[in-house]
Amino acid sequence: MSSEGPLHERFGRLFPAGSVLFNEGDPGHDMYVVHSGLVQLTRKLRGNDSLLANLGPGEFFGEMAIVNNRPRSATALALADTTALVIDQRTFEVMIRRNTEIAVRLVRKLANRLDQANAQIEVLLMRDLNHRVAHYLRRIAETMGVPDGAGLRVAITATDLSNRIDADRVQCEEALDRLAKARLIDHDRAGGTISISEVGRLDEFLQFLEMKERFGDTT
Ligand code: CMP
Repeated sequence: MSSEGPLHERFGRLFPAGSVLFNEGDPGHDMYVVHSGLVQLTRKLRGNDSLLANLGPGEFFGEMAIVNNRPRSATALALADTTALVIDQRTFEVMIRRNTEIAVRLVRKLANRLDQANAQIEVLLMRDLNHRVAHYLRRIAETMGVPDGAGLRVAITATDLSNRIDADRVQCEEALDRLAKARLIDHDRAGGTISISEVGRLDEFLQFLEMKERFGDTT
């Protein structure tokens, strides 16, 4: 680790693939900055593990427990061999006071999370399941979609999707089938991915659903 510099010598730790860094509900005394590898954050929702985020190099997590003095709000699992800086509460506070760039990044990250949480509330308030599914897919395509031809592809299973939008998995799969039949998406069940080949068409469909939700189904 010495080749990584003094920060790594002091704070760096290796978490082998499959190891749990901490569990939801644990007391928390450190925050983590991923240097290499991949960490998955999940939270229990009605007994199911709901995916919050997969974090790679440069991203941080675990700051909430040390800022709020509250238990861990999620479980962190190393999906691959991961190295991370593990920074205790006191060092974190000193770093923030000395380095405004770190404080600004933290505020940005928290503002992004608040944005996502607000968008999530919007989805949960939608009555129509097709609307919820299409709206959620469009949103994650924007934030974590990878280019796929002229469209976008997201890695998500029907189970993850149903947990995120608080819907029954089977009904969610049926809604995905309807969207696929309308050629708005391609659902690769085996690969756990969904592709949106024409984002503009999905946006039009969403506008239509928005109107329907707002003015009601008059048919
Ligand atoms: P902490 O509560 O200490 O431990 C779990 C961590 O997961 C938490 O700090 C945040 O860093 C992170 N976290 C919590 N909620 C979300 C979310 N909605 N999206 C991304 N990361 C989150």
